[in-house]
Amino acid sequence: MSHFAFEQAICTAFDLGAPVGEITPVVSGLTHRMWRLETERRAFAVKEISIDSSGAWTIDRIERAFTPERAAFDAGVPMPRPVPVAGTNTCLAEVRRDNGSIATVRVHEWMEGEGLQRIVYGADFAGRVGQVIARIHGLAMDAGVTQAKALVTLGEDHWRSLAERVERSDAEWKWEFRAILPTVGEIEGYVDSARGDDTPLILGHRDADQKNWMKTTDKELLLVDWDAAGPVNPRHEVASLALTWSGVHLGEPDWKVVRVWIAGYREGGGVEDVIRPTDLAEFVAVLSQWFEYNARRAIGERPADDAERKRSGHRAAGVQGSAAVFAVGRAVDTVACAGMTTTDAVRCGRWRGRAFRGIAGGSLRPSKMFRLRLSL
Ligand SMILES: Nc1ncnc2c1ncn2[C@@H]1O[C@H](COP(=O)(O)OP(=O)(O)OP(=O)(O)O)[C@@H](O)[C@H]1O
Ligand SMILES: [Mg+2]
Repeated sequence: MSHFAFEQAICTAFDLGAPVGEITPVVSGLTHRMWRLETERRAFAVKEISIDSSGAWTIDRIERAFTPERAAFDAGVPMPRPVPVAGTNTCLAEVRRDNGSIATVRVHEWMEGEGLQRIVYGADFAGRVGQVIARIHGLAMDAGVTQAKALVTLGEDHWRSLAERVERSDAEWKWEFRAILPTVGEIEGYVDSARGDDTPLILGHRDADQKNWMKTTDKELLLVDWDAAGPVNPRHEVASLALTWSGVHLGEPDWKVVRVWIAGYREGGGVEDVIRPTDLAEFVAVLSQWFEYNARRAIGERPADDAERKRSGHRAAGVQGSAAVFAVGRAVDTVACAGMTTTDAVRCGRWRGRAFRGIAGGSLRPSKMFRLRLSL
Protein backbone atom coordinates (compact mmCIF):
# COMPACT_ATOMS: atom_id res chain seq x y z
CA MET A 1 0.00 0.00 0.00
CA SER A 2 1.33 3.40 -0.88
CA HIS A 3 2.49 5.94 1.66
CA PHE A 4 -0.35 7.92 3.31
CA ALA A 5 -2.99 5.70 1.70
CA PHE A 6 -5.31 6.04 4.72
CA GLU A 7 -4.91 9.82 4.75
CA GLN A 8 -5.46 9.93 1.00
CA ALA A 9 -8.59 7.79 1.28
CA ILE A 10 -10.08 10.15 3.90
CA CYS A 11 -9.20 13.18 1.78
CA THR A 12 -10.88 11.64 -1.25
CA ALA A 13 -13.99 10.61 0.66
CA PHE A 14 -14.50 14.12 2.09
CA ASP A 15 -12.83 16.15 -0.66
CA LEU A 16 -10.21 17.70 1.62
CA GLY A 17 -7.39 18.27 -0.87
CA ALA A 18 -4.08 16.40 -0.73
CA PRO A 19 -2.83 15.25 2.67
CA VAL A 20 0.30 16.85 4.09
CA GLY A 21 1.97 14.40 6.45
CA GLU A 22 0.64 11.65 8.61
CA ILE A 23 -2.67 11.65 10.50
CA THR A 24 -1.99 12.08 14.25
CA PRO A 25 -4.07 10.90 17.22
CA VAL A 26 -5.54 13.47 19.63
CA VAL A 27 -5.50 12.32 23.23
CA SER A 28 -8.78 13.77 24.41
CA GLY A 29 -11.20 11.60 22.40
CA LEU A 30 -12.69 9.19 24.94
CA THR A 31 -15.73 7.51 23.45
CA HIS A 32 -14.43 7.36 19.93
CA ARG A 33 -11.02 8.17 18.47
CA MET A 34 -10.04 11.63 17.36
CA TRP A 35 -7.31 12.44 14.87
CA ARG A 36 -5.81 15.55 13.35
CA LEU A 37 -5.20 15.53 9.62
CA GLU A 38 -3.47 18.29 7.75
CA THR A 39 -4.02 18.81 4.07
CA GLU A 40 -2.89 21.37 1.54
CA ARG A 41 -6.01 23.39 2.46
CA ARG A 42 -6.11 23.37 6.27
CA ALA A 43 -6.25 21.00 9.26
CA PHE A 44 -9.23 18.72 9.91
CA ALA A 45 -10.49 16.78 12.92
CA VAL A 46 -11.16 13.19 11.89
CA LYS A 47 -13.26 11.14 14.29
CA GLU A 48 -13.32 7.40 14.05
CA ILE A 49 -16.66 6.23 15.42
CA SER A 50 -16.90 3.05 17.48
CA ILE A 51 -20.05 1.82 15.80
CA ASP A 52 -22.18 -0.19 18.24
CA SER A 53 -25.00 -1.45 16.08
CA SER A 54 -27.09 -2.77 18.98
CA GLY A 55 -26.54 0.24 21.23
CA ALA A 56 -26.30 4.00 21.11
CA TRP A 57 -23.86 4.49 18.25
CA THR A 58 -25.58 3.17 15.17
CA ILE A 59 -24.83 4.58 11.73
CA ASP A 60 -28.48 5.62 11.36
CA ARG A 61 -28.52 7.51 14.59
CA ILE A 62 -25.36 9.44 13.81
CA GLU A 63 -26.61 10.28 10.34
CA ARG A 64 -29.90 11.50 11.86
CA ALA A 65 -27.94 13.74 14.22
CA PHE A 66 -26.18 15.32 11.24
CA THR A 67 -29.29 17.24 10.16
CA PRO A 68 -29.61 19.42 13.29
CA GLU A 69 -25.83 19.75 13.43
CA ARG A 70 -25.65 21.25 9.96
CA ALA A 71 -28.68 23.44 10.57
CA ALA A 72 -27.08 24.80 13.75
CA PHE A 73 -23.84 25.51 11.95
CA ASP A 74 -25.63 27.27 9.10
CA ALA A 75 -27.51 29.38 11.64
CA GLY A 76 -24.24 30.61 13.15
CA VAL A 77 -24.07 28.55 16.36
CA PRO A 78 -20.41 28.63 17.48
CA MET A 79 -19.10 25.19 16.53
CA PRO A 80 -16.57 23.62 14.17
CA ARG A 81 -17.74 23.31 10.57
CA PRO A 82 -18.87 19.75 9.83
CA VAL A 83 -17.65 18.39 6.50
CA PRO A 84 -20.07 16.07 4.67
CA VAL A 85 -18.97 13.11 2.61
CA ALA A 86 -18.13 14.54 -0.82
CA GLY A 87 -21.21 15.03 -2.98
CA THR A 88 -23.66 13.80 -0.33
CA ASN A 89 -25.66 15.00 2.67
CA THR A 90 -24.26 12.29 4.90
CA CYS A 91 -21.44 12.47 7.44
CA LEU A 92 -20.01 8.96 7.78
CA ALA A 93 -17.60 7.27 5.37
CA GLU A 94 -15.99 3.85 5.54
CA VAL A 95 -12.31 4.12 4.83
CA ARG A 96 -9.74 1.36 4.49
CA ARG A 97 -6.78 1.55 6.85
CA ASP A 98 -3.26 0.57 5.84
CA ASN A 99 -3.70 -2.81 7.55
CA GLY A 100 -6.82 -3.52 5.48
CA SER A 101 -9.38 -2.98 8.27
CA ILE A 102 -12.23 -0.53 7.76
CA ALA A 103 -12.65 2.63 9.83
CA THR A 104 -15.96 4.53 10.02
CA VAL A 105 -14.98 8.19 10.12
CA ARG A 106 -16.41 11.69 10.02
CA VAL A 107 -14.70 15.05 9.60
CA HIS A 108 -14.84 18.62 10.95
CA GLU A 109 -12.61 21.56 10.37
CA TRP A 110 -9.89 21.60 12.97
CA MET A 111 -10.14 24.45 15.47
CA GLU A 112 -7.18 25.54 17.59
CA GLY A 113 -7.96 25.49 21.29
CA GLU A 114 -8.49 23.15 24.20
CA GLY A 115 -11.32 20.95 25.44
CA LEU A 116 -13.05 21.94 28.68
CA GLN A 117 -12.71 19.77 31.78
CA ARG A 118 -15.26 18.19 34.08
CA ILE A 119 -15.15 21.07 36.54
CA VAL A 120 -17.42 23.96 37.49
CA TYR A 121 -16.42 26.92 35.34
CA GLY A 122 -18.34 29.65 37.11
CA ALA A 123 -20.71 32.37 36.06
CA ASP A 124 -19.08 33.68 32.89
CA PHE A 125 -18.97 30.36 31.06
CA ALA A 126 -22.31 29.21 32.46
CA GLY A 127 -24.07 32.30 31.13
CA ARG A 128 -22.44 32.01 27.72
CA VAL A 129 -23.27 28.33 27.42
CA GLY A 130 -26.88 29.04 28.39
CA GLN A 131 -27.04 31.60 25.58
CA VAL A 132 -25.73 29.17 22.97
CA ILE A 133 -28.24 26.53 24.01
CA ALA A 134 -30.99 29.14 23.72
CA ARG A 135 -29.88 29.87 20.18
CA ILE A 136 -30.14 26.22 19.25
CA HIS A 137 -33.57 25.96 20.84
CA GLY A 138 -34.53 29.13 18.99
CA LEU A 139 -34.13 27.28 15.70
CA ALA A 140 -37.24 25.33 16.76
CA MET A 141 -36.38 22.31 14.62
CA ASP A 142 -39.33 19.98 14.80
CA ALA A 143 -38.36 16.61 16.31
CA GLY A 144 -41.38 14.76 14.94
CA VAL A 145 -41.84 12.71 18.11
CA THR A 146 -43.84 13.13 21.31
CA GLN A 147 -42.50 13.34 24.84
CA ALA A 148 -44.39 10.15 25.66
CA LYS A 149 -42.39 8.26 23.03
CA ALA A 150 -39.03 9.93 23.54
CA LEU A 151 -38.55 9.17 27.25
CA VAL A 152 -36.90 5.82 27.93
CA THR A 153 -37.69 3.62 30.89
CA LEU A 154 -36.75 -0.05 31.06
CA GLY A 155 -39.68 -1.35 33.10
CA GLU A 156 -40.12 -3.66 36.03
CA ASP A 157 -39.60 -6.93 34.11
CA HIS A 158 -36.35 -5.72 32.67
CA TRP A 159 -34.96 -4.74 36.07
CA ARG A 160 -36.21 -7.95 37.73
CA SER A 161 -34.56 -10.04 35.07
CA LEU A 162 -31.35 -8.06 35.50
CA ALA A 163 -31.52 -8.68 39.26
CA GLU A 164 -31.77 -12.43 38.58
CA ARG A 165 -28.70 -12.33 36.38
CA VAL A 166 -26.83 -10.23 38.92
CA GLU A 167 -27.66 -12.82 41.59
CA ARG A 168 -26.25 -15.60 39.39
CA SER A 169 -23.06 -13.62 38.81
CA ASP A 170 -20.10 -13.44 41.16
CA ALA A 171 -20.47 -9.71 41.79
CA GLU A 172 -19.65 -8.93 45.39
CA TRP A 173 -22.81 -6.83 45.74
CA LYS A 174 -25.11 -9.34 44.09
CA TRP A 175 -27.41 -9.76 47.11
CA GLU A 176 -27.87 -6.02 47.49
CA PHE A 177 -29.10 -5.32 44.01
CA ARG A 178 -32.71 -6.48 44.35
CA ALA A 179 -33.33 -4.19 47.28
CA ILE A 180 -32.72 -1.23 45.00
CA LEU A 181 -35.55 -2.17 42.66
CA PRO A 182 -38.40 -0.44 44.53
CA THR A 183 -36.48 2.81 44.32
CA VAL A 184 -35.63 2.23 40.68
CA GLY A 185 -39.37 1.71 40.24
CA GLU A 186 -40.01 5.09 41.85
CA ILE A 187 -37.46 6.72 39.58
CA GLU A 188 -39.04 5.21 36.49
CA GLY A 189 -42.45 6.16 37.81
CA TYR A 190 -41.23 9.74 37.98
CA VAL A 191 -39.95 9.52 34.39
CA ASP A 192 -43.28 8.04 33.27
CA SER A 193 -45.11 10.90 34.94
CA ALA A 194 -43.51 13.27 32.40
CA ARG A 195 -45.01 11.44 29.42
CA GLY A 196 -48.21 13.43 29.60
CA ASP A 197 -46.32 16.64 28.86
CA ASP A 198 -47.51 17.91 25.49
CA THR A 199 -44.69 20.43 24.93
CA PRO A 200 -43.59 19.94 21.32
CA LEU A 201 -40.12 18.37 21.24
CA ILE A 202 -37.44 20.06 19.16
CA LEU A 203 -34.03 18.94 17.98
CA GLY A 204 -31.22 19.75 20.40
CA HIS A 205 -27.62 18.79 21.11
CA ARG A 206 -28.45 16.42 24.02
CA ASP A 207 -24.89 16.16 25.33
CA ALA A 208 -23.73 19.73 25.94
CA ASP A 209 -21.84 19.10 29.17
CA GLN A 210 -18.37 20.54 29.75
CA LYS A 211 -16.46 17.84 27.88
CA ASN A 212 -18.18 18.67 24.62
CA TRP A 213 -17.06 22.30 24.56
CA MET A 214 -13.76 23.74 23.58
CA LYS A 215 -12.20 27.12 24.20
CA THR A 216 -10.43 28.49 21.16
CA THR A 217 -7.18 30.40 21.36
CA ASP A 218 -9.20 33.63 21.09
CA LYS A 219 -11.38 32.50 24.01
CA GLU A 220 -14.49 31.67 22.05
CA LEU A 221 -16.56 28.74 23.32
CA LEU A 222 -17.39 26.14 20.67
CA LEU A 223 -19.88 23.32 21.02
CA VAL A 224 -18.47 20.08 19.59
CA ASP A 225 -19.62 16.47 19.34
CA TRP A 226 -23.14 16.61 17.96
CA ASP A 227 -23.35 12.84 17.50
CA ALA A 228 -26.09 12.45 20.11
CA ALA A 229 -28.24 15.32 18.78
CA GLY A 230 -31.94 14.52 18.70
CA PRO A 231 -35.33 15.24 20.29
CA VAL A 232 -35.39 17.36 23.42
CA ASN A 233 -37.97 19.00 25.55
CA PRO A 234 -36.30 22.41 25.88
CA ARG A 235 -37.16 22.74 29.57
CA HIS A 236 -35.68 19.30 30.30
CA GLU A 237 -32.45 20.25 28.54
CA VAL A 238 -32.29 23.52 30.47
CA ALA A 239 -32.85 21.84 33.84
CA SER A 240 -30.33 19.12 33.11
CA LEU A 241 -27.60 21.40 31.74
CA ALA A 242 -27.99 24.11 34.38
CA LEU A 243 -27.39 21.41 36.99
CA THR A 244 -24.57 19.74 35.08
CA TRP A 245 -22.68 23.01 34.58
CA SER A 246 -23.10 23.80 38.26
CA GLY A 247 -21.41 20.56 39.28
CA VAL A 248 -24.28 18.21 40.16
CA HIS A 249 -22.16 15.27 38.97
CA LEU A 250 -19.26 16.31 41.15
CA GLY A 251 -21.02 16.92 44.48
CA GLU A 252 -23.19 19.69 45.81
CA PRO A 253 -24.06 21.91 42.84
CA ASP A 254 -23.13 25.58 42.90
CA TRP A 255 -26.60 27.10 42.95
CA LYS A 256 -25.42 30.50 41.86
CA VAL A 257 -24.19 28.90 38.65
CA VAL A 258 -27.61 27.29 38.13
CA ARG A 259 -29.22 30.72 38.28
CA VAL A 260 -26.65 32.34 36.03
CA TRP A 261 -26.94 29.52 33.49
CA ILE A 262 -30.70 29.96 33.31
CA ALA A 263 -30.36 33.76 33.16
CA GLY A 264 -27.95 33.35 30.20
CA TYR A 265 -30.43 31.05 28.51
CA ARG A 266 -33.16 33.64 28.86
CA GLU A 267 -30.94 36.48 27.67
CA GLY A 268 -30.20 34.37 24.62
CA GLY A 269 -33.92 34.25 23.88
CA GLY A 270 -34.61 30.84 25.42
CA VAL A 271 -38.10 29.81 26.44
CA GLU A 272 -39.35 31.48 29.56
CA ASP A 273 -41.66 28.67 30.58
CA VAL A 274 -41.87 27.79 34.20
CA ILE A 275 -39.95 24.61 34.96
CA ARG A 276 -42.47 21.89 35.76
CA PRO A 277 -42.18 19.25 38.45
CA THR A 278 -41.54 16.58 35.82
CA ASP A 279 -38.76 18.46 34.02
CA LEU A 280 -35.89 16.42 35.43
CA ALA A 281 -37.27 13.28 33.82
CA GLU A 282 -34.74 13.20 30.99
CA PHE A 283 -31.88 13.84 33.42
CA VAL A 284 -33.03 11.04 35.70
CA ALA A 285 -33.77 8.66 32.82
CA VAL A 286 -30.24 9.06 31.45
CA LEU A 287 -28.72 8.41 34.87
CA SER A 288 -30.73 5.26 35.45
CA GLN A 289 -29.82 3.93 31.97
CA TRP A 290 -26.20 4.65 32.75
CA PHE A 291 -26.56 2.76 36.02
CA GLU A 292 -28.13 -0.22 34.24
CA TYR A 293 -25.46 -0.20 31.54
CA ASN A 294 -22.73 -0.31 34.14
CA ALA A 295 -24.42 -2.99 36.22
CA ARG A 296 -24.51 -5.13 33.05
CA ARG A 297 -20.89 -4.40 32.34
CA ALA A 298 -19.98 -5.32 35.90
CA ILE A 299 -21.50 -8.79 35.45
CA GLY A 300 -19.79 -9.27 32.10
CA GLU A 301 -22.76 -8.72 29.78
CA ARG A 302 -21.01 -6.05 27.81
CA PRO A 303 -17.79 -6.92 26.01
CA ALA A 304 -14.75 -5.27 27.53
CA ASP A 305 -12.18 -5.30 24.78
CA ASP A 306 -8.92 -3.42 25.08
CA ALA A 307 -10.33 -0.20 23.71
CA GLU A 308 -13.27 -0.42 26.08
CA ARG A 309 -11.04 -1.12 29.08
CA LYS A 310 -8.99 1.93 28.19
CA ARG A 311 -12.12 4.00 28.41
CA SER A 312 -13.30 2.45 31.65
CA GLY A 313 -11.90 5.30 33.71
CA HIS A 314 -14.21 7.61 31.82
CA ARG A 315 -17.13 5.22 32.21
CA ALA A 316 -16.48 4.87 35.90
CA ALA A 317 -16.47 8.61 36.23
CA GLY A 318 -19.84 8.57 34.56
CA VAL A 319 -21.13 6.05 37.05
CA GLN A 320 -19.91 8.17 39.89
CA GLY A 321 -21.87 10.88 38.21
CA SER A 322 -24.93 8.74 38.66
CA ALA A 323 -24.71 9.56 42.33
CA ALA A 324 -26.13 12.86 41.18
CA VAL A 325 -29.48 11.17 41.00
CA PHE A 326 -29.57 11.48 44.78
CA ALA A 327 -29.47 15.23 44.50
CA VAL A 328 -32.41 15.41 42.17
CA GLY A 329 -35.02 16.29 44.74
CA ARG A 330 -32.98 19.18 46.05
CA ALA A 331 -32.14 20.12 42.50
CA VAL A 332 -35.75 20.68 41.59
CA ASP A 333 -36.08 22.93 44.62
CA THR A 334 -33.16 24.96 43.49
CA VAL A 335 -34.11 25.30 39.88
CA ALA A 336 -37.24 26.61 41.55
CA CYS A 337 -35.17 29.25 43.32
CA ALA A 338 -33.90 30.32 39.93
CA GLY A 339 -37.42 31.58 39.40
CA MET A 340 -38.59 28.89 37.05
CA THR A 341 -40.98 26.85 39.07
CA THR A 342 -44.07 26.79 41.22
CA THR A 343 -44.70 25.80 44.79
CA ASP A 344 -46.03 22.54 43.40
CA ALA A 345 -42.67 21.80 41.87
CA VAL A 346 -41.01 22.52 45.16
CA ARG A 347 -43.34 20.13 46.92
CA CYS A 348 -42.66 17.46 44.32
CA GLY A 349 -38.99 18.16 44.59
CA ARG A 350 -39.11 17.45 48.31
CA TRP A 351 -40.97 14.23 47.71
CA ARG A 352 -38.35 13.11 45.22
CA GLY A 353 -35.62 14.32 47.50
CA ARG A 354 -36.83 11.80 50.06
CA ALA A 355 -36.91 9.02 47.48
CA PHE A 356 -33.42 9.73 46.28
CA ARG A 357 -31.96 10.22 49.71
CA GLY A 358 -33.53 6.84 50.39
CA ILE A 359 -31.30 5.28 47.78
CA ALA A 360 -28.28 7.16 48.96
CA GLY A 361 -28.70 6.04 52.54
CA GLY A 362 -30.11 2.65 51.73
CA SER A 363 -29.11 -0.48 50.03
CA LEU A 364 -27.67 0.90 46.82
CA ARG A 365 -24.37 1.72 48.49
CA PRO A 366 -23.27 3.74 45.52
CA SER A 367 -19.72 4.25 46.65
CA LYS A 368 -19.24 0.51 46.87
CA MET A 369 -20.76 -0.08 43.45
CA PHE A 370 -18.61 2.64 42.00
CA ARG A 371 -15.42 1.28 43.51
CA LEU A 372 -16.21 -2.08 41.95
CA ARG A 373 -16.69 -0.43 38.60
CA LEU A 374 -13.38 1.36 38.92
CA SER A 375 -11.59 -1.93 39.35
CA LEU A 376 -13.05 -3.54 36.22
N1 LIG B 1 -13.09 20.30 15.26
C1 LIG B 1 -12.24 20.13 16.27
N2 LIG B 1 -11.03 20.73 16.26
C2 LIG B 1 -10.16 20.55 17.27
N3 LIG B 1 -10.40 19.78 18.34
C3 LIG B 1 -11.59 19.14 18.41
C4 LIG B 1 -12.56 19.27 17.38
N4 LIG B 1 -13.64 18.53 17.71
C5 LIG B 1 -13.35 17.98 18.88
N5 LIG B 1 -12.12 18.33 19.32
C6 LIG B 1 -11.46 17.92 20.57
O1 LIG B 1 -11.53 16.53 20.69
C7 LIG B 1 -12.22 16.16 21.88
C8 LIG B 1 -13.09 14.94 21.65
O2 LIG B 1 -14.05 15.23 20.67
P1 LIG B 1 -15.50 14.56 20.71
O3 LIG B 1 -16.19 14.99 21.94
O4 LIG B 1 -16.15 14.84 19.42
O5 LIG B 1 -15.09 13.03 20.80
P2 LIG B 1 -15.62 11.90 21.81
O6 LIG B 1 -14.92 10.68 21.45
O7 LIG B 1 -17.08 11.91 21.86
O8 LIG B 1 -15.03 12.39 23.16
P3 LIG B 1 -15.73 12.40 24.60
O9 LIG B 1 -16.12 11.02 24.90
O10 LIG B 1 -14.63 12.94 25.45
O11 LIG B 1 -16.91 13.32 24.49
C9 LIG B 1 -13.03 17.40 22.27
O12 LIG B 1 -13.19 17.48 23.66
C10 LIG B 1 -12.20 18.53 21.74
O13 LIG B 1 -11.26 18.94 22.71
MG1 LIG C 1 -17.62 14.07 23.17
